[in-house]
Amino acid sequence: MEIGIDQISFFTPNLYLDLTELAEKRGVDPNKYLVGIGQEKQSIVPPTQDSVSMAANAASILLEQKSTEFLNSIDEILFASESGIDNSKSGAVYLQKLLNLKKNMRAIEIKQACYGGTFALMTAFDYVKLHPNKRILVVASDIARYGLKSAGEVTQGAGAVAMLVSTQPRLASYNWDSVFQSEDLMDFWRPLDQSEALVFGKMSQEIYEKFFYEIWQTYSQKNLKKVSDFAAFVFHLPFTKMGKKALDQINDQIDESKKDQLEKNRLAGQIYNRKVGNLYTGSLYLSLISLLKNNILKNNDRIAMFSYGSGAEGELYSLSLAADYRQAILGDPAQMIASRRKVSVDEYEGLFRAFPEDSEDHELTNSYDSSHFQLKRIKDHQRIYGDNF
Ligand code: HMG
Repeated sequence: MEIGIDQISFFTPNLYLDLTELAEKRGVDPNKYLVGIGQEKQSIVPPTQDSVSMAANAASILLEQKSTEFLNSIDEILFASESGIDNSKSGAVYLQKLLNLKKNMRAIEIKQACYGGTFALMTAFDYVKLHPNKRILVVASDIARYGLKSAGEVTQGAGAVAMLVSTQPRLASYNWDSVFQSEDLMDFWRPLDQSEALVFGKMSQEIYEKFFYEIWQTYSQKNLKKVSDFAAFVFHLPFTKMGKKALDQINDQIDESKKDQLEKNRLAGQIYNRKVGNLYTGSLYLSLISLLKNNILKNNDRIAMFSYGSGAEGELYSLSLAADYRQAILGDPAQMIASRRKVSVDEYEGLFRAFPEDSEDHELTNSYDSSHFQLKRIKDHQRIYGDNF
C-alpha cells in the first residue's frame, strides 16, 4: 500500500523586499546577499497575516472544490509552526473552523523549530498506514524574524505549505526509510518573551552541515543507497547557499555521470526559496515544490529530503514521484510570488516594527492584502480572523 503526499499547495504574503535595496541601505555589497547567502528577495508580512491565516490560505487552495465526503475523510489537522499565536491553544483548532472541517477530528500543533513540518508528515504517514481510508491535513506555516540590522535579517521570510496525506498519493509516496537524530544544542532559539529569534549563526550552519553528513552516512548504510540512486536532494533552505554547503560535503560520492542532473535539480529546488526567504517549517516543502515546478522529473524518480530544525533535530528520508505529480501541486506558486508588491526598505522597517502584539487591542487593515483569510482584530488578547470573500 503506497502512502504519501497526495496534493500540496503554497501561500506567501503579497509583499516583498528587494535584498539588493536592503544591502545598499545596510552598507553591504549586494553580492554578499545575492551570491554569498543566495537570497534575492524576501516575503514581508502585512499586519493582516500571521502563521494561522497563512496556513488557512495555503490549505484553502487544497480544499476548495473537494466533496463533502472527501473533507469528512480528514481525521487530523497537524499544524507545524514555531511562530504559533498562542502558548496553549493549537493553531490547528482555528484552522478547523476557518476551513469549515468536521467536528470529529484531532487538531494539534507541533513544534521543533524548522523540523516540525517533517514530524507532522511522518505522524500523518503512520496514521494513514493504520487507517487507510482516512486523510490528514498537514500545514507548515511560519514567519522568520531575526530583527532589523541583525545578521539574520537577510534570511527572514514567511509563508505556509499545506499537504494532504493519503494512500494512493498523487504527488509522491514515502519510502519508509527515515533516519533521524536529535541533540540538545543552542544554535537558534526564541525565548518566550521575544518575537525575534536568537541565533549563533556560524554555529547553526556548522551543526546543520554536521547533521546532514552524519545522517547521510547512516542513511546510506542502513538503506543500502548511494547518491546516484537519487534524482535530487532537497534541503531545508534557511537561505539557498545552505543546501549547497550541505551537499558539497558528499561531492566525492557523486558519480561524474550524475553531477549535472543533481546540480540542475539543486538549482531548480531553490528558485522559489531565493525569492521568498526562510519559512522555517515549510522551507523544505517549498523547495520540493520549486524542484517539481521548475524541472522535469520522471515517474518513480527518488528524491532525498533533508529536514533540519535548530535545537537540534534532523531527518533524511525519500519520496518516489507519482506519474502525474505535476497535477498534484495546486495553485500557482510562481504567479503568487511574481504578483507580490515591492515595499521600500523604509516601508519594510515600519511593518517590522508594527508587528502586532496581543497585549493591545487592534483593528488590522492592509489595503494591499487581498488574501482569502486575514487577521482582522486583536481584542482582549484574542485573535479574530475573517474570510475576505
Ligand atoms: P554573516 O556573518 O553576516 O555572513 O551571517 P558571512 O560573513 O558568514 O557571509 C556569508 C557568506 O557570504 C559567506 O560565504 C561569505 O564568504 C559570503 P560562505 O563562506 O559561508 O560560503 N560573502 C560574499 N560573497 C560574495 N560577494 C561578497 C561577499 N561578502 C561575503 N561581497 C548567517 C550569515 C547565515 C550566519 C546569518 O545570516 C544568520 O545568522 N542567519 C540565520 C541563521 C541561519 O540561517 N542558519 C542556518 C542553519 S540553522 C537552520 O537552518 C535552522 C533555522 O532555519 C531555524 C530553525 O530551525 O527554526 C535557521
